[in-house]
Amino acid sequence: MVEPRVTAPILKEMKSRGEKITALTAYDYPTARLLDEAGIDIAMVGDSVGMVVLGFDSTLPVTMDIMIHHTAAVARAVKRALVVADMPFMSWHASTDNAVRNAGRFLQEAGAQAVKIEGGAPVAETVRHITNLGIPVMGHLGMTPQSVHQFGGYRMQGREEAAALRIEEDAKMLQDAGIFALVLELVPADLARRITQDLSIPTIGIGAGPDCDGQVQVVHDILGLYDKFVPKHAKQYAKLWDTIREALRAYAAEVRSGTFPERTS
Ligand code: KIV
Repeated sequence: MVEPRVTAPILKEMKSRGEKITALTAYDYPTARLLDEAGIDIAMVGDSVGMVVLGFDSTLPVTMDIMIHHTAAVARAVKRALVVADMPFMSWHASTDNAVRNAGRFLQEAGAQAVKIEGGAPVAETVRHITNLGIPVMGHLGMTPQSVHQFGGYRMQGREEAAALRIEEDAKMLQDAGIFALVLELVPADLARRITQDLSIPTIGIGAGPDCDGQVQVVHDILGLYDKFVPKHAKQYAKLWDTIREALRAYAAEVRSGTFPERTS
């Protein structure tokens, strides 16, 4: 039996029941099917695809076309999880019109049910516009990777009082603008707890401590599939890089020695 689709309102109900929300990134059909079979609530097609799948050094080279391609593969796979597509760098920066068109592409061409936009006060009006048109938007505050050059690296944000206050105000402003959930990335746990208590919409943490309403991780990090760098907040539930390399070595050895394929007659 196919379970009903997770929706933005269902996530809000989960928060009010105190039920934790599970989210993972997904970029392709097989991983998205596995994520859905495992009962994960949100399939987030992150622009992290640029780093963990496409070999870029940051998320900045990721384009709308790349995101549409990966989101469509995930949407074809997923039956239950909410599919959220990341609005990539420069897909919403130039104008509200442009942002609306690009958000709409994710629902119309790729089959996503929602989009995610990084940033606080400067994007609030854009978010209001998109949500008023009926497109659910997830917010993203803290260490927003598209601003890596402004931050000077992938560093925790909101340590100082003034910075923490700004993030808290941004969170309320985004909630007022209509977001249905908020990703808090790399912020101190006590700041994430305060924001979670203050908002009526769910917070989804990544490197933001245990008190958010849900957690998201990059799937390659928790499966041990990205060898360049493992974030401190990630727990490796498997080491697939090693497992796959051993399987490939075994295949190569058997082809070289003539033991694969076996002679059938
Ligand atoms: O791009 C991404 O993967 C993300 C999530 C981890 C929040 O933005």
